[in-house]
Amino acid sequence: MTRLVSHDPTFNPARPPSGTVLCALSDVAEPGAKGFIFRQDEALFSGFILRRGGQTLGYVDRCPHAGWPLSGGPDRYLTRDGNHILCAGHGALFTPETGLCTSGPCAGRSLSPWTVEVQDGMVVVK
Ligand code: FES
Repeated sequence: MTRLVSHDPTFNPARPPSGTVLCALSDVAEPGAKGFIFRQDEALFSGFILRRGGQTLGYVDRCPHAGWPLSGGPDRYLTRDGNHILCAGHGALFTPETGLCTSGPCAGRSLSPWTVEVQDGMVVVK
């Protein structure tokens, strides 16, 4: 068995590699979002993708305030009007296109990007 080893403290062996197919683009409403969890042994990676304004974006599902996952339920990452990403923990709001927190306890900090792209109608990790 090959085991990946890294000295990078941010390395997460559960993070899916480039080329991993996440879902069909049509599986995500516009605007809407969808969460994913990957496991590798004891490590977990959580990320989510969102569609809004014709863009498909991805972020690591970890709030910069307290490190909690953002969603308040399955695939519930956006505010009701679809204009912001909402952290259910303490109500932080983030700009979907940049991940910047504009309101809440982590204002001025940003979500970590999880770069994805659409290939032949499928959302793929870049
Ligand atoms: S954990 Fe997100 S606002 Fe506190």
